[in-house]
Amino acid sequence: MATRPPRVAELLLLLPSLLLLLLLPQQVVSDPDDEACLSNLRSSLTDPNGSLRNWTADTFAAPCNGFTSYLEGVTCNNGRVYKLSLQGLSLGGALSTSLANCTNLQSLDLSSNALSGAIPPELASLLNLAVLNLSSNRLSGRIPPELALCSYLNVLDLHANLLTGLIPDQLGLLVRLSTFDVSDNRLEGPIPALLANRTAVGGAGAAALPRFNASSFVGNKDLYGYPLPPKRGGGLSVLAIVGIGVGSGLLSLVLSFTAVCVWLRVTEKAAPMPGEEGKISHLMPDY
Ligand SMILES: *[C@@H]1O[C@H](CO)[C@@H](O)[C@H](O)[C@H]1NC(C)=O
Ligand SMILES: *[C@@H]1O[C@H](CO)[C@@H](O)[C@H](O)[C@H]1NC(C)=O
Ligand SMILES: *[C@@H]1O[C@H](CO)[C@@H](O)[C@H](O)[C@H]1NC(C)=O
Ligand SMILES: *[C@@H]1O[C@H](CO)[C@@H](O)[C@H](O)[C@H]1NC(C)=O
Ligand SMILES: *[C@@H]1O[C@H](CO)[C@@H](O)[C@H](O)[C@H]1NC(C)=O
Ligand SMILES: *[C@@H]1O[C@H](CO)[C@@H](O)[C@H](O)[C@H]1NC(C)=O
Repeated sequence: MATRPPRVAELLLLLPSLLLLLLLPQQVVSDPDDEACLSNLRSSLTDPNGSLRNWTADTFAAPCNGFTSYLEGVTCNNGRVYKLSLQGLSLGGALSTSLANCTNLQSLDLSSNALSGAIPPELASLLNLAVLNLSSNRLSGRIPPELALCSYLNVLDLHANLLTGLIPDQLGLLVRLSTFDVSDNRLEGPIPALLANRTAVGGAGAAALPRFNASSFVGNKDLYGYPLPPKRGGGLSVLAIVGIGVGSGLLSLVLSFTAVCVWLRVTEKAAPMPGEEGKISHLMPDY
């Protein structure tokens, strides 16, 4: 009996926080930045299979319902979009620069679609980004060096696209990077030393191990340097030089052989065979 009043008081004290706990997951939160991000992303994408049919103007205004979302591929945390995962949905079009407005984004996975155009340098303002997977699309242009500003990047997967140019040296400064894959693109030039060798990051003990091995870089015709083979002596021109060498060798052989034949024929006529002597001596009187 004596313990009863305190229990009620405790319960009353707990009530607001209990109510809050019950209400929190159902709380629909809107954020103008997320709204701009999602609506601009939607209008920059083509969706031939209707995978984004829930991506409507109404839902952009309130994309988050606690930790879940009505939007396909969207995950929320504290009322903000923190994960966008739209892989293998046959999406086309370009990456919207407005993705930069999803400022709480920690994971952006738009892999295995048919996205084209450039990777927007604006992604650099996603300062919480830990995972960027844009692999298996048709993205072209350069890898923006600005991505080095996303200092929390753990995973940068850009494999199987049409990316060109150099791998920016600055990406080597992303110390948290544990997965890096730019294989199967059209990149060229030397592999940045800080991506290839652990020496600068891991110290002398780790010097012998590549930071990222050859499988991160293969499938780029003009990319060279450790852990890939060194720059070929002008690539195809080595073959060309060998070809020219062999070709001119053969040509001079043919030419000298012809010259020898001609010379032989000339000397043959000048100094005739014994069997033809009679014939020639027969002709001699004409001179
Ligand atoms: C989206 O980002 C742009 C550029 O950073 C900014 O000007 C704008 O205020 C942001 N928010 C909205 C709701 O457009
Ligand atoms: C689309 O939204 C409706 C409710 O608005 C929901 O029942 C359905 O599961 C959603 N579909 C997807 C793919 O999220
Ligand atoms: C989209 O549709 C095309 C053709 O209709 C089909 O080949 C493809 O597998 C579909 N993709 C998805 C993700 O459903
Ligand atoms: C990126 O996405 C593809 C599937 O679309 C997956 O196979 C790959 O493992 C992902 N990359 C990383 C580093 O998780
Ligand atoms: C990377 O390490 C390898 C093996 O330790 C070494 O041969 C190579 O010169 C180093 N490259 C750079 C750019 O430091
Ligand atoms: C490269 O490293 C990855 C893990 O980072 C490993 O799975 C793969 O087998 C390695 N490949 C080679 C050729 O060493």
